[in-house]
Amino acid sequence: MDFTEYNGKRVIVTGCSSGIGGATAKALIGLGAEVHGVSRRRPDLDLAAFDSVDLGDPEAIRAAFADRDEHVDAVFNCAGLAPMFPAADVLRVNFLGTRLFTELVVQNMSEGGAIVTTSSDGGAAWRKRLPLLTEFVAVESFEDGAAWYDERESEAGHAYAFGKEALNLWSMQQSSVLIKRGIRVNITTPGAVRTPMLDVIEKTYPPELAAATERPIGRASTPEEQVVPLLFLNSSMASYVNGADLVVDGGYGAMESAAGHFFNV
Ligand SMILES: NC(=O)c1ccc[n+]([C@@H]2O[C@H](COP(=O)([O-])OP(=O)(O)OC[C@H]3O[C@@H](n4cnc5c(N)ncnc54)[C@H](O)[C@@H]3O)[C@@H](O)[C@H]2O)c1
Repeated sequence: MDFTEYNGKRVIVTGCSSGIGGATAKALIGLGAEVHGVSRRRPDLDLAAFDSVDLGDPEAIRAAFADRDEHVDAVFNCAGLAPMFPAADVLRVNFLGTRLFTELVVQNMSEGGAIVTTSSDGGAAWRKRLPLLTEFVAVESFEDGAAWYDERESEAGHAYAFGKEALNLWSMQQSSVLIKRGIRVNITTPGAVRTPMLDVIEKTYPPELAAATERPIGRASTPEEQVVPLLFLNSSMASYVNGADLVVDGGYGAMESAAGHFFNV
């Protein structure tokens, strides 16, 4: 694959402080892209620009991006909060903030632009819960989103899975809206990835829980193994790929689907 087309392109990578976002930003810099990072902590990378923005805070997101008018070629949404954080924070960062950020940035994108978002195998059951998710995704403000979840938590379930399911549905909705402007929207579904997030998960939850998602391949992926799928989806090589979920999980989802488990739709 020829990724040299990223040379000179202005791209935004969220969550570039570590893990998948860090590896993606590094690869894009190596390909000559003008990489703008958005995260909590500036990484030791040669970024063209960096915004320290809390993607869980709507005012901070608006302050940083509402009035920008510089053209953006591609967005890599890699920021995310791990499952053990408070539910309200997880929903704010993983869905509400990612959505608001993307909505503001897409105003500066044009035909040929592309957005890819790292979802999770935790969100893979979204097609099974469309009525509930459609209601939640229609909620506009952060406050209403938090109130909705407070009221419906027993139906919605864990905020990490629910937030990723909402992200998936919203991305699929956007793929049919933004393609009218020539902008493609796709997601990837990573399985276990050896990043600081996985380290924290392994320290918090019983070891067999994380180990289960490393089947059948027998190991977690490296962050770098997540990068090429992301680069591909946002490149013109994927010009007819829109509304796709590229599963990058070593076969975990396929194994669960074949066994009739929760990946089945
Ligand atoms: N690691 C895994 O096993 C795994 C599996 C499936 C999906 N994912 C998803 O992949 C994405 C990347 O995760 P990772 O594994 O690289 O984890 P990571 O913890 O290494 O990276 C997460 C990034 O998000 C940023 N971030 C977190 N909260 C933020 C906030 N409030 N505002 C701005 N930036 C914030 C962090 O600074 C960091 O750069 C996440 O969306 C995660 O849910 C990870």
